[in-house]
Amino acid sequence: MTIGIQRISFYTAPFYLDMSVFAQARGEDADKFHVGIGQDQMSVISPDEDIVTLAANAALPIVQEFDPQSFTAVLFATESGIDQSKSAGAFVHGLLGLSSRCRVVELKHACYAGTAALQMAVNMVRVNANERILVIAADVARYELGSPGEATQGCGAVAMLVSNQADVLAIEAGSGYYTEDVMDFWRPNYRDTALVDGKYSTMVYLTALKHAWQHFHESRALIYADFARFCYHLPFTKMAIKAHSRLMKLTGQEANEASIEQAMGASLKYNRTVGNSYSASLYFGLISLLENDVDDLAGQRIGLFSYGSGCVGEFFSGIVGTNYRQYLYTSQHQALLAARKELSFSEYLDFYKRFGEVERNDNIEISSYSRGHFRLSAIRAHKRQYVQNSSTE
Ligand code: CAA
Repeated sequence: MTIGIQRISFYTAPFYLDMSVFAQARGEDADKFHVGIGQDQMSVISPDEDIVTLAANAALPIVQEFDPQSFTAVLFATESGIDQSKSAGAFVHGLLGLSSRCRVVELKHACYAGTAALQMAVNMVRVNANERILVIAADVARYELGSPGEATQGCGAVAMLVSNQADVLAIEAGSGYYTEDVMDFWRPNYRDTALVDGKYSTMVYLTALKHAWQHFHESRALIYADFARFCYHLPFTKMAIKAHSRLMKLTGQEANEASIEQAMGASLKYNRTVGNSYSASLYFGLISLLENDVDDLAGQRIGLFSYGSGCVGEFFSGIVGTNYRQYLYTSQHQALLAARKELSFSEYLDFYKRFGEVERNDNIEISSYSRGHFRLSAIRAHKRQYVQNSSTE
């Protein structure tokens, strides 16, 4: 039995801000973002979307391909929670018309929770081969306007069907992990934007990678050469390049531009334009790799490093399925990215402000902006109301 990812699909908001426009408005050199941070655009959430619509829109192609009644659980990972009690997964369960014999739970540990959910799902399938679990990671990365973090925003969701038919990626047993109680990035309940000690957070990320790799290497006896490609948590793509350079040095490899590029393959392509999607970003990287790498990766081992501030890091591995390309949603994903609308800087500021107002208010009607299948239409009596977009019904 090979357990792992049977299908993997993403969704991001259909609006973006170009980093050159951002740089000009903030009085910075555009190369700071294109080169120094490694981002070309960032997806901008509209006021009528949130983690629920991102997640439901991401999972829709999977649910349309299989019987919605066949899913046995939804494990929803996020750090942009919309409710302190009700799981965002319950809304998604309703929107997607899943069976009442399907458990739902929300998991949190910053950007790491997507991996916690994936590993939990794999182990649930190991115990019961009949499980067909939707793992969904969805987040909106929001920082204070004018703060250093502002350039590393973004949003998106990745949905994965985890089962005993690992058409896309079989998750191998045994990983390396590292936890330390630190304050590098956090969001108290009374804030709708994250607080971050930016430089410190990048150092903790690298420390977590070092320890997680060492633990992995001791447990699995695999070496650097056993991997065809590596995918990393991607708060911004330069972070992954720094991380991989660190891993190469740790394992005695010669780290240069060509060797790093070879090892990362096409894993950075989508994130350069979507930006940070916190718990989903590692899996955007995985999709990007599988859908865009020029080499056929069938049967190859991929190394994955997941990082969540606060902090937990986990290094694990997977083997790409024999005919993986035929199970990907490549053309839909590329069409979604190509159809995004560019925002001016003032439109971006307007969306930013309105999204925050929706987060803080009750009894509001929300205009339609998004072109996704599902959108947030109102909040009445403190209850979020979601509808299908009429253009996509
Ligand atoms: N041309 C080329 N490169 C340039 C440049 C130019 N004109 N101007 C600056 N640069 C380079 C700098 O040299 C620097 O490179 P190095 O990091 O290699 O030194 C890079 O661009 C960034 O410049 P600064 O260090 O001056 O940038 P900053 O201080 O304004 O902010 C940041 C950088 C700290 C990452 C900030 O964006 C931030 O706080 N982001 C949010 C936190 C974050 O993403 N942390 C990542 C680890 S935590 C995590 O992973 C969890 C998560 O998702 C949040």
